[in-house]
Amino acid sequence: MKQTATAVAPSNIAFVKYWGVRDAALTLPYNESISMNLDACSTTTTVTFDSSLDTDEVAIQWYGQPARPTAGRPFERVVAQLDRVRIRAGIEARASVVSANNFPADAGIASSAAGFAALTIAAASAAGLQLNERDLSILTRQSGSGSACRSIPDGFVHWLNDGTDAGSYAVSVAPADHWSVVDIVAVVDTSIKRVTSADNHGRVTSSPYFAVRLQEVPGRIEQTLHAIRDHDLGALGVVCEADAVSLHVVAMTAIPPTFYWNSGTMAVVHALHRWRDQGLMAYFTMDAGANVHVICSDADKTEVDQRLRELPEVQWTIVNGPARGAYLVDPT
Ligand code: DP6
Repeated sequence: MKQTATAVAPSNIAFVKYWGVRDAALTLPYNESISMNLDACSTTTTVTFDSSLDTDEVAIQWYGQPARPTAGRPFERVVAQLDRVRIRAGIEARASVVSANNFPADAGIASSAAGFAALTIAAASAAGLQLNERDLSILTRQSGSGSACRSIPDGFVHWLNDGTDAGSYAVSVAPADHWSVVDIVAVVDTSIKRVTSADNHGRVTSSPYFAVRLQEVPGRIEQTLHAIRDHDLGALGVVCEADAVSLHVVAMTAIPPTFYWNSGTMAVVHALHRWRDQGLMAYFTMDAGANVHVICSDADKTEVDQRLRELPEVQWTIVNGPARGAYLVDPT
């Protein structure tokens, strides 16, 4: 028996971020989050359940490089997600997984979000499961890469959370063509993460500022929803920057602390302040890494991108508009 399916999923950037896991087994977060899917950073994954295979086989290809078999923790995370799908579908066949990213491994962007969203949709389809968007988002969240559940719905996405497995899933709040806001990734660091997000999700409560963050997030969720609805870049930028700083304050004050930013990060932040003084609207956010995501309008993207690339600390940039959510590719 051989059953195959291919899916494409975008990465996403959170305006209000997921930081801290309340239940690690189910990947239930403490707080809700809001993101935008990224149209220049996606993963295409083919899953083939094949009863002639003795073990699962996983190969990952990064932009410009040949596909390489994976091992260790990344392999185990993929197998665990295949197991969730097999249990639901009542099948036992092992699978071959081939996953290709259209962006480099060292760009420090959320590759696992695109990867686990594409894996989940392709595996569910190949296994013959009929799941709606909510169920796909829940199953994707359970992979352990929580932010991946936001790559399932279209465009601008709200990860709802009532603290239960059934009530923690992502929904689209606006399609990709609702607002042509841009996220330019300014790459200032290409080293491998020394501390994984998973480690830090588990230690948030050791920071005295985490409780403060949790009080602030619901207000930011409301403001972000309004900013998206009203196409209000200035309002979005203020919330985005405040939320990113709050996440990093928690990381820097947790036990043990993590300092993700480097001097390149701060060079971009200070440049953005200078440019804003000159009237150019561009705002920062950072995930669990040093690279800066710069949010600006579509009209300003060429100017902002050029200025970013002129900064000596910026190695290269990736310019993203909003993208549709994950989808299956027609086999024909
Ligand atoms: C800082 O556990 O979803 O990006 O380590 O890539 O699997 P991976 O990430 P995940 O944590 C992401 C945290 C974040 C903020 C966010 O995307 O909401």
